[in-house]
Amino acid sequence: MKQPLIITGPMYPPTLAELEQTYDAHRLWTAPDKEALLASMADKVTAVASSNSGGINGATMARLPRLKTIAHFGVGYDTVDVAAAKKGNIAVTNTPDVLTDEVADLAIGLMLAAVRRIPQGDKYVREGKWLKGAMALTESVQGKTVGIVGMGRIGRAIARRAEAFGVKLAYQGPNRKADLSWPYYADPLELAKNSDILIVACPGGDSTKGLVSRAVIEAIGPKGTLVNIARGTVVDEPALLEALQGGKLGTAGLDVFADEPRVPEAFFALENVVLQPHVASATHQTRKAMGQLVIDNLAAHFAGKPLVTPI
Ligand code: 8YV
Repeated sequence: MKQPLIITGPMYPPTLAELEQTYDAHRLWTAPDKEALLASMADKVTAVASSNSGGINGATMARLPRLKTIAHFGVGYDTVDVAAAKKGNIAVTNTPDVLTDEVADLAIGLMLAAVRRIPQGDKYVREGKWLKGAMALTESVQGKTVGIVGMGRIGRAIARRAEAFGVKLAYQGPNRKADLSWPYYADPLELAKNSDILIVACPGGDSTKGLVSRAVIEAIGPKGTLVNIARGTVVDEPALLEALQGGKLGTAGLDVFADEPRVPEAFFALENVVLQPHVASATHQTRKAMGQLVIDNLAAHFAGKPLVTPI
């Protein structure tokens, strides 16, 4: 008999297919009657698979009294109520490490695209504007200071790559890292004042909500660049929009938004921002590896073995 599983949100389709083949799996996010589905599974379900766009809150956990493991698709688990899980003795796993390099690659890509205006150049050629004259010059990355908000696994991978561009580095986070010699600022405003390019790479959730405030954004300055590959919630989005519109911030490269996939349309009119649809980990190879961790964690759960990547 197949073990019961509730899947709360969409994830890499081949992973979803494998889960649906292995388990008596039920999709919560498309269920016509969610309450009825939860009620029908309440006395048997011990594991849930969740994802960024379909997390799980404390109320849903409470409806599943036998729940023991939540296997989350994503390194960031801000859509899982971890405090409620802890209280209910429910383990949460995520998908660290396998996406670090991929996300760092896109962060560097967005930095270059925003500073050197690569998509704008592409548009310039396509629209035949080059025939009428050269495109406007841009800022340079070289010699600039790149400040990284959040020096975790992804922050470090971004820093390693950024070094190759001849930039100076600095960082902010809850703690100074003993093994790093780059300047450390506990306050994001101090980091921004000392940076030309600010790259946001910290976790989302309540502890970092609005960390990149209006003051921080304006401190990066009219020639500066903000890159966000973390979570839209970390940045004061209305303030960011205003700063880009009013020239208080030079350029931005954004992969994440406060209410994605709904991106404020005012961004579309701006020439000084590069927008991406939350794709930093979105390659076949990396999504497959992330999915494998979800599969392996669930297999460990059902085999009574230690979970592979508990948070
Ligand atoms: C998401 C991400 O998982 O890992 C994360 O925290 O933000 C992404 O890799 C992506 O939204 C998958 O749906």
